[in-house]
Amino acid sequence: MKTIDNRPPVYYSNYLQLDKILGAQAPESAKEGAEAPDEMLFIIIHQAYELWFKQMLHELDYVRAIFQKDQIENSSPDIYNALHRLKRVQTIVALTVQQMDIMETMTPLDFLDFRDFLRPASGFQSIQFKMIEAALGLQYDQRHGKGYYLSQLSEADIQRVKDQESKQSLLSLIEQWLERMPFADAPYSWNPSGTQEAFWPHYRDAYLRSLSDADEGNLAHFDALFIQPENYPAGRSLSAKATRSALFIMLYRDYPLLHLPYEILTALLSIDHGLGMWRQRHINMVRMTIGNRAGTGGSTGADYLRKAAETHFIFKELSELTSYLLPRQMLPKLPEALQKELSFCTPEAR
Ligand code: HEM
Repeated sequence: MKTIDNRPPVYYSNYLQLDKILGAQAPESAKEGAEAPDEMLFIIIHQAYELWFKQMLHELDYVRAIFQKDQIENSSPDIYNALHRLKRVQTIVALTVQQMDIMETMTPLDFLDFRDFLRPASGFQSIQFKMIEAALGLQYDQRHGKGYYLSQLSEADIQRVKDQESKQSLLSLIEQWLERMPFADAPYSWNPSGTQEAFWPHYRDAYLRSLSDADEGNLAHFDALFIQPENYPAGRSLSAKATRSALFIMLYRDYPLLHLPYEILTALLSIDHGLGMWRQRHINMVRMTIGNRAGTGGSTGADYLRKAAETHFIFKELSELTSYLLPRQMLPKLPEALQKELSFCTPEAR
């Protein structure tokens, strides 16, 4: 058979190295001569997860390389490509949630047939999972159960996660990208007398009017986040400027120039949400399969996982911004000059 440039023909199973992949299932129960037919499923499910984790890391590297550029033009292919790849990650995460359906076909008794042969291995030692968390923005200090974490992983694996932690995470790159956005902080003429000021005092007035008695306490938080830079709470993962840009994007996402930035924020939230769903499904499955027993990795099992699930949200400061949204009819009308800047029009028309 002729191939392009006379390259040697490629054969399906060689190309995919199926001998390696399909030869990589070695049930521990079989080594002990024990009968445990479901161990094959258990191995294959985990291997399939690890392949998808690898693809997710590949996509996240690509997206991070885009956001590492000093400038990302809204009109360049960069933003769209980043969004496209984030949506792919989002779809893979959704698949990993669904894959739990297959895992759940294994009953507790099926699992007990081989569970003891696995000790002390555990999905906890999935380094790619921890690398994904780190690539997105979870730092070691924010991890639940740090002592347990260190005791379970080999030095080489701890180093692999540390390497990810030392690279700039997607969260931090998104923060810088949001900080570069000019609109929310740039002065515009917000009233007919033409005073040049930024958006926030106007938004505060509208926000105050929107608050019910029960929500009145939110105003102090709002002021600390958006109005009084000196009171911006310490230790947040997004700076005050990035936080303001993110809220502005969410509020005025109907303007053409903000469509893609809004979609990017939404994709990040969906990935975080999807990982949260995965954790929840995993916890439910763990409860169903081993009840209150400790995990093969020696943690408290479902209890450990529940606390990790509560702590390991990465884009939670973005998702909390919904507390500060307003119905469209209450939004301050944008000055004309700003409306033009946010629309697709020629520079001459601006
Ligand atoms: C019968 C099926 C499963 C059971 C009973 C189970 C149980 C557990 C338990 C108890 C833990 C806590 C650590 C420990 O003490 O071992 C854990 C952690 C973990 N498992 Fe599973 N697991 C199962 C399937 C899976 C699958 C299919 C995956 C896919 C990769 C997975 C990935 C993980 C990950 C990533 C962690 C760490 C989570 C974190 O630290 O937030 N597990 N698992």
